[in-house]
Amino acid sequence: MPTPKTFHVKSFGCQMNVYDGERMAEAMAAAGYASAADATDADVVVLNTCHIREKATEKVYSDIGRMKKRRPDQMIAVAGCVAQAEGAEIIRRAKVDVVVGPQAYHNLPQLVADAATGAPTLDTDMPLLSKFGALPARRRVGPSAFLTVQEGCDKFCTYCVVPYTRGAEVSRPFDAIVEEAKALVDAGAKEITLLGQNVNAWSDGKQDLGSLIRALDRVDGLARIRYTTSHPNDMTQGLIDAHAEVPSLMPFLHLPVQSGSDRVLKAMNRSHSRDSYLRVLERVRAARPDIALSGDFIVGFPGETEAEFEDTLSLVAEVRHAMAFSFKYSPRPGTPAADMAGQIAAEVMDDRLQRLQAVLNRDQEAFNQATVGKRCTILIERAGKKPGQMLGKSPWLQSVIVEDGPPVGSLIEVDIVAAWPNSLVGVAAVAQAA
Ligand code: 5AD
Ligand code: SF4
Repeated sequence: MPTPKTFHVKSFGCQMNVYDGERMAEAMAAAGYASAADATDADVVVLNTCHIREKATEKVYSDIGRMKKRRPDQMIAVAGCVAQAEGAEIIRRAKVDVVVGPQAYHNLPQLVADAATGAPTLDTDMPLLSKFGALPARRRVGPSAFLTVQEGCDKFCTYCVVPYTRGAEVSRPFDAIVEEAKALVDAGAKEITLLGQNVNAWSDGKQDLGSLIRALDRVDGLARIRYTTSHPNDMTQGLIDAHAEVPSLMPFLHLPVQSGSDRVLKAMNRSHSRDSYLRVLERVRAARPDIALSGDFIVGFPGETEAEFEDTLSLVAEVRHAMAFSFKYSPRPGTPAADMAGQIAAEVMDDRLQRLQAVLNRDQEAFNQATVGKRCTILIERAGKKPGQMLGKSPWLQSVIVEDGPPVGSLIEVDIVAAWPNSLVGVAAVAQAA
């Protein structure tokens, strides 16, 4: 195989994968490979994969098949959670050149070079020393950047592959995170979203995520802080207080609950109840009354009855989320739930998902409508579809369209004048006379 010169990274799945994909691209660039804007033009394509549901995994194999047909000479590297879960099986089944796991991608450039001159290469180690120390520093990012502060999960919800693909909970050191935040701001970031599979479990033994957020609030030039994804049991009082006290912490919380039924939550091994979840939300809302709440839901978990599903609907009615993600249960090999009795028929899952999404969509639209008439700051992230149109994000993570908006990276005050199911319309606010 000729020595590859250009690469393209394609990320699927969660925001952690987006972050990892950016860092892989930076590592490849630092090793002398040139970035190709289009996957078809690249000598090496890195598929940064997702294993969370069956559909996502199947897509990897069909993508590889399509790429092989189009350009048999192209080198294919599989990264991410499918790489970790399937390992050498991907080389056997799909004849790819490189397999690299989420904790080993600092070695990606070397694995590519070795595969170019010899046999396929594989690295799915989870070394004690983190990859972060071996990765090049951040240089250029958009106005809203991701920063991984915590990885892995020890919670072992019975449906979930994450504890197996991402390993045990590990927090990055405080100083390394503050350093990276400063580098991101120097590289153009105005907003940083702290990432972790259980980001609110972040701790350095002494401090919690709330303390880390307070430290980041003092970083010059960093206007906005967000964090995702959280577990209800890790909402410490320090973090909840930060929502009341830290001005740069945005009023938004993604706190998955998965189900409104205590029996199902127990079978999921969620280690919280419907009630304890609702009480956490009450404390968060007391600290920050305007907070926008988001969540994840699974319908059709093994054994879920119609009445238990209705418990989820009644929880949703009680919370009134600003947005939410909902999924049909997908059995994952190796997880306890995959072998449970009472797997739910596809038609039943389809029906439940539709009913749940109907109320979640209604709540999202109502939340958006309720922002009409408010004045808020938005961060401009990109150009809109029409000339002059710009797209920004409200503090509550809604997309806001502004005609004749200022350039990407601007923070401007707008009046929200209209709301749609998925976006708002803002008009630059005119300063009030003193
Ligand atoms: N089936 C369906 N949804 C799942 N999730 C995680 N594992 C599964 C699964 N096996 C959902 C959960 C989680 C989100 C990231 O994906 O709702 O919060
Ligand atoms: Fe998966 Fe549960 Fe861990 Fe979330 S808390 S990553 S759903 S095991």
